[in-house]
Parts: sequence; C-alpha cells; structure tokens
Amino acid sequence: MASQPETDTPTSPVSREQDHEPAAGLDRDLAALLEVERFEPPAEFREQALLNDPSIYEQAARDPQAWWAEQAEQLHWFRKWDQVLDDSNPPFYKWFIGGTLNASYNCLDRHVEAGLAGRVAYHWYGEEGEQRDITYGELLAEVKCFASALKDLGVRKGDVVGIYLPMIPEVIVAMLACARIGAPHNVVFGGFSAEAVRERMEFSEAKVLITVDGAARKGKTASVKDRVDEVMGDLATLQHIVVVRSKGTACQMKQGRDVYYDEIIAAADPECPAEELDAEHPLYILYTSGSTAKPKGILHTTGGYMAGVSATHRYVFDLKPNSDVYWCAADVGWVTGHSYIVYGPLANGATSVMWEGAPDYPHKGIWWELIERNRVSILYCAPTAIRACIKWGAEYPNKHDLSSLRLLGTVGEPINPKAWLWYHKVIGGERCPIVDTWWQTETGCIMITPLPGITATKPGSATRPFPGVEAEVRAESSGEPIEQGQGLLVLTRPWPSMLRTLYKEDERFIAAYYERFGRETYLVGDAARKDKDGYFWVIGRIDDVVNVSGHRLSTAEVESAIVAHPDVAEAAVIGQHDEDTGQAIVAFVTLQGDLQGDDAAVEGIRESVAERIGKFARPKRIIWTDDLPKTRSGKIMRRLLRDIAEGRELGDVTTLRDPEVTSKLQERIKELQAQEA
Ligand code: PRX
Repeated sequence: MASQPETDTPTSPVSREQDHEPAAGLDRDLAALLEVERFEPPAEFREQALLNDPSIYEQAARDPQAWWAEQAEQLHWFRKWDQVLDDSNPPFYKWFIGGTLNASYNCLDRHVEAGLAGRVAYHWYGEEGEQRDITYGELLAEVKCFASALKDLGVRKGDVVGIYLPMIPEVIVAMLACARIGAPHNVVFGGFSAEAVRERMEFSEAKVLITVDGAARKGKTASVKDRVDEVMGDLATLQHIVVVRSKGTACQMKQGRDVYYDEIIAAADPECPAEELDAEHPLYILYTSGSTAKPKGILHTTGGYMAGVSATHRYVFDLKPNSDVYWCAADVGWVTGHSYIVYGPLANGATSVMWEGAPDYPHKGIWWELIERNRVSILYCAPTAIRACIKWGAEYPNKHDLSSLRLLGTVGEPINPKAWLWYHKVIGGERCPIVDTWWQTETGCIMITPLPGITATKPGSATRPFPGVEAEVRAESSGEPIEQGQGLLVLTRPWPSMLRTLYKEDERFIAAYYERFGRETYLVGDAARKDKDGYFWVIGRIDDVVNVSGHRLSTAEVESAIVAHPDVAEAAVIGQHDEDTGQAIVAFVTLQGDLQGDDAAVEGIRESVAERIGKFARPKRIIWTDDLPKTRSGKIMRRLLRDIAEGRELGDVTTLRDPEVTSKLQERIKELQAQEA
C-alpha cells in the first residue's frame, strides 16, 4: 500500500517575485523590460476590443446572476430557463433551471443554420505533414453519423462513453457525438497508460470506449488498441470498443465487442437530431488528480458549462470569429482542451488550428511555422512550452513571420516573469497583450484573468477575477479575508461552469472543496497572494498535488505506482521546483531487504510508473534511503522531504522517530546535486 497522505500540508510555496533577475541568454532589451511593472493594453487593441469599459466589473458584481444570464442568452436554447440559479442546497448549485439545450447543437447546427457551413472549424495538421481542413458543415455531418452509430451500439442518454484518442479530428467528433445524444463522455489524455484508462472506465462504468489503432509521437507509431486490450479484458460494464483506423497499425478485434469507427459510420443513419437536454444534464466527466491515489471524477453539466466557456472564450481572447485564427496548443485530453479547443471555440464559431504532435517535431520551429502558415492571431499555451522555446533559442521563432498574432495566453501553472517577458517580446513583438489565465478542471472555465482590452498586466500575475467571479485570499489560521498578503485562494460565489460533484462521490466532493470554509466557499487548493492593487498571484498547490509541465498529478498516485514494484518497500513522493517543468517529481525510495539502488532499479521503478499512470508521471529523481523521516506514530513527513529537497532549514527534528534520517538525506541530496552539476 502507498503511504497515506498526511496533514502536514500546506507546503511552503516558493515566492515568485524573487524571479526578477534577467536569465542568462536574454538580451539587454529584455532586461530593460523587466523593469517595467505594468503593461497597459495597447491603445489600438483597446479601441477594437469587445470589452473595453472597466465598468463591466462593477456591473457584473452588482448582479452576477443577470451577467451570467446575459452570457447564457448568447447560446441556443430549445427552452429558456425559469430560474438562473438554485442555491437552496449548497454546494449542490444548479444553473438555468428549466432550460433545455444541446452542446453539440450550439457548437455546430446553429452555425450551419446561420450559413456558416463552409467556415473552417479546424485546420488540422498531422506530424508527418498531413493536413485536413474541417468545416463546420463537415463536422456536423460526421458528428450526426457517429452519434447515430453510437445509438446503434446501444448507447442511451446518460450512458458514459470513454474516449482515449490522440489529437486527431475524430476526438472532437467523438466528444460532440456523445454530447448530441446526452451520453456523458469521459476523455482520458492520450499520455495516460492503458492501466490508467481501465481504472477510469471502471470508476465511471463506461459502456463504450472509443480508441485508436495506433498513435504517432515524434515519428514513432505506438500501438494503442492492443495495449488497451491487454488490460481491459474483464471489465464487465464495457460492452463495445470503437477503433478509429488512424495509423494503419494492425490490431486484434474481439468479435461482438470491437467495431471500426469508419465501418459503423458508413452503416449509420446520417440524420441524428440533437437531444433536447436539461441544463443540468451531465456533459462530461474528466478525471483529475487529488490528494489521494484515487483520481477525482469532475462532473460538468451542460447549460452552465457552455455559458461559462463560451463567455470566457469570447471575452478573454477577444474573439472576432470572422477574422481570427485561434490556436490553443493544449491536448484535448485535459480540461484546457475540452473548454478551449472544443466547446468554447466551437460555441463561438471560431476557426482553430489543431496540431497532432509535439512542439519539437519534426523540428523546433514547427509551432511558428504553423502560425505563419495559418496567420494565427491568438495563441494559448502553457508556460512550460514557453520555457522550452526559450531554451531552444529565439532563432526558431525569429525565422517566421509572426505578425498575424494579436493576443497571447498562458494556462496551467504560474508563469515566471522571465518567461512572460520573452513571450511578450520574442513571440508577441511587444504588441500583443498576454492573458495569464488561472483556472482548474473543477472550475470548467477561466476564473482569474486579465481582460485584454481593459486590464493592465503584471508579468506573473493572473490579475483579477473574470466579471461575475468573486475570489478571496483567506488567512490559513483564522480564515479571515486578507486584503494584501498571502493565504489560501477561495471562490466565494457560485459560477455557472462549476463542477457539480465528484462522479458518484458527493461526500468526497464536499470534503475536498466545501468543508474548510463552509458550504458556500469553494476551497481552490492553491496558495495565492494579493498585492496592493488587488491583483492575484497564484503561487502553487497547498495539497499533495504536483504540477509537472502543467500536468496535474497526485503524489499519492505516483507513490502507489512505485510501491507496486516488487522490489520497493516504501516510497514518498514530492514535487520539487524545476526550471523547465515548473515542478518535477522526486521519489524517496526504500528497497526491500538488502537490495541496492542501481541504474536498473531506477529504470524498473520509472517503468512501473509509466505502466500504471503514464510516461509523463515518471520521477525525474529517485533518491535511495534506508528510512524516511517519520513521526513517532509512523507518519511520513513529506513537508520535511520537501524542505530537504529544496535545501531549506529544517528546524526542530527531535520529535522524529529517527532524527538521523534527515541529516543522511541532506548529505545524499548534496552528493546528487554535485554529481548533476
Ligand atoms: O495550481 C493551479 C494551476 O493548475 C491547477 C489546476 O490544474 P488543472 O485542473 O489540471 O487545470 C489546468 C488548466 C486549467 C491550479 O489549481 N494553474 C492553472 N492555471 C494557472 C495555475 N497556476 C498559476 N497560474 C495559472 N495561470
């Protein structure tokens, strides 16, 4: 068993404002920019922005329900709601009660009916230079066929459908087809292992899983379906596996259970009207990491989610659907992809770029090449990607014409001011506002963000809550709001795209988010600081969740995968600050008996994690130890491990069962650092 997470959190998040000295390799102009504290929206941008009157904040704060209702009115409703918000049973809030709609109808049919069938929804690019332009009309036609095919397979309204697909157009079709017939989808990021998929299918009792023969990654094709088969065999609830033939990889098909996507589409009725669904009908489940090894099934419903993502996508990105080309360089398997590759952009009739691969294949300039080729005007990506580009050098973007860009965004982790400024200068040519957007799988849509035509930005701050959202920083000890200073981030008002519960785990939902400060105050799980201007600086997680390259992982989940290795006696995992990936996973491991930690043991453990979770969760460092720092009652002190790893003072350790353990570990870390240097 993995060691249970204890309560020695919160962590001591690192302050990011110290990060103000120019990085080696940044030129002197950039160093000068570091001195500038605030960046006002450029006058030209402000004049043409959809929102440029700051009174929008007060207007929304005066009557948030009216503000959100106004946003919801931009959607197509079969039947309008009778009541905006039902807050009679917090934290189980309901939005747009009595209203009926369909997400797929909102993303497709209404645009086609408005004469936009020929507009490109996605310019899709494959790793090996393949290209497909998919119009709204074509997407609708394929979604209808696949929705019919799912019905033919026996999928009914309310049945959960798993989706485990790479970044190919079929993943969008699959999601929208589910939405069309009211079958909540459960997408699993393609980087997760088949084991992780199985677990998520089991927890959600998925009836059908849609996957692929093989997936491309940096020039190699890996079989996917066969890996899935190896672990999925005995899952009783799973009735069918639909296989998209993407790479022509040979795979086994089990008769009666497995079907090919193209074959069932060809046999399906091309007509499939969008189901009229209640506003609170579940749209999807998305598993994310929490404090324990068991992932949390975040449940989003239809009306509020669509209102939240479409409004934030429109205003945060200042979207002009007739002229903009938008690119969110995330993966659809994460919430960023759900909200800002699929539902937000399609609801707003946007034209997007969709890229199958990695940012450095076939070469390190591929992003900039795609931006030039498609005249991309809005780019939304993760700070980790920006840091990687900084490392590769400005010569890659500098080779391309990036003058089409007018707005840049970041998401997923705090952005250090140096990376912000590089993004601003090298990519944005100093003319593009940057929106640093803070939000979570749970919040469904962007919560704290600049409005690019209104808000002056400060590198490293997500600035202010989006209109209609109310956030506070609370003192850890008293729970009192802090006007200026650091504490726990909370959201004090319900918002339409909030998670409704954890799938089939209402008690856990309350315990995780609504116990600390009561049933009406959402505990985010992040530490944040508010500055003298009321700007929010999100610092990092306060729980046992780590953020590696914007990928959210639980330390308990990784521990569990490590101790599953037969040679391991005990393990404790922490997140350590990392220049490239934001945080990196460090595992302290005790082997069984007299076993010695050598290179083969390191590989064995990393493999165990890759198999159970996915390659992206493999520990960067494994530190062998005979024992772990524990209290007298045997609880592992991860807080101490974090302090040891970061080289911080430890304070009093005399109450530990064996105080010697800490000094030995400190020695070990020093040795390792010397070796790495
Ligand atoms: O710690 C915060 C960090 O990512 C967490 C949410 O992770 P996830 O649910 O995977 O969603 C990521 C994409 C929305 C948050 O609790 N985070 C996200 N955006 C930012 C951020 N931290 C600082 N600044 C951000 N802009």
